[in-house]
Amino acid sequence: MVERLAQGGIENPALDARLLLCAALGVEDIALISAPEEKLSAEERETVEAYLQRRLTGEPVSRILGRREFWGLSFGLNEATLDPRPDSETLVETALRHFNLPQNESPRVLDLGTGSGCLLLALLYELESAWGLGTDRSENALGMARQNAAALGIGSRAAFACADWGAALRGGFHLVVSNPPYIPGADIEGLQREVRAHDPRAALDGGLDGLDPYRILFAQFDGLASDGGIGVFEFGAGQEDALFALAREAGLRVIETACDLGGKPRILAVCKV
Ligand SMILES: C[S@@+](CC[C@H](N)C(=O)[O-])C[C@H]1O[C@@H](n2cnc3c(N)ncnc32)[C@H](O)[C@@H]1O
Repeated sequence: MVERLAQGGIENPALDARLLLCAALGVEDIALISAPEEKLSAEERETVEAYLQRRLTGEPVSRILGRREFWGLSFGLNEATLDPRPDSETLVETALRHFNLPQNESPRVLDLGTGSGCLLLALLYELESAWGLGTDRSENALGMARQNAAALGIGSRAAFACADWGAALRGGFHLVVSNPPYIPGADIEGLQREVRAHDPRAALDGGLDGLDPYRILFAQFDGLASDGGIGVFEFGAGQEDALFALAREAGLRVIETACDLGGKPRILAVCKV
C-alpha cells in the first residue's frame, strides 16, 4: 500500500497508508502494530482498495475518512465544508490571547462563515461560560456544524444560522472571528489538486483580489461587536498590507498580526477605535 501511494506521488505515503488502513479495518493504530500479519477479509480488502484508489486520484485522507482533527477535537466534514487547516489554530490561539472576559454577562462569540464549525466550537470548548453563533451561506455546511457541536457536547451553547455574513445580525458580540474565502478567483485553478478539487469553491473564492469578504466583514464589525469586543480574521499569503489598509479605512484599530506555524503573517486582530 505504501509503495503504491509513493509511486502515485503521494507526499506522506506511510502515514496515509496507516490512516486509511486503520479506518478501513475500524481499528486503532495499536491493533495494526500488534497484529500486522492478520489476514484481511475479502470485504476489508475491497474497502482498502477503494480508499487507496481515492487517495491516488488526489482526494485528501480527511475527505476519504470524512473527519479532521482540529484543536485536538474531531470534526466531521462534508462536501460543503472546508477541510480545516492546522494554520487556523493560530486564529483560535490569537483570539483566546486577546479575549477579555466580559463582566456580569456571559461571553458571546460570533463566527462568520463557520463551515464545519471548527473555529467557533474550539473557542466554545475553551471558553466554558460562552455562547456562540456561527453563520454560513451553505445550509449543508451548517448541518455538519450542528452535528459537530452535538458530538462535542457543546450543542446547547452553539447556534447556527444561514446568513450572508453578519448582515442580519445586531451587535453585542465580545468576540467576532472569521476565516473567509480569500483566494483570488483566477488563482483557484492553480491550487494543489487536493484543494482545488475537494474544497468547496464557496470556501475558497474571495473575488478578484481575494479581499471581497473583508470589505464586507470590516464594514459590519462595528455593528456586530460589543464595546471592547475584538475581531480576529484569517488571511492569505501576501494580503497583510492590503488588509491593514482596509481595516484602517473601515475605522478599525489593528491590535496584532500573528504568524502561522510556518512563520507567515496569517491572522489579524482588530478592535473598534
Ligand atoms: C474558508 S471557509 C472557512 C470555514 C471554517 N470557518 C474553517 O475555518 O475551516 C469560508 C466559509 O465561508 C462561507 N461563506 C462564503 N460566503 C459567505 C457569505 N456571504 N456569508 C456567510 N458565509 C459565507 C463558506 O460557505 C465557507 O464555509
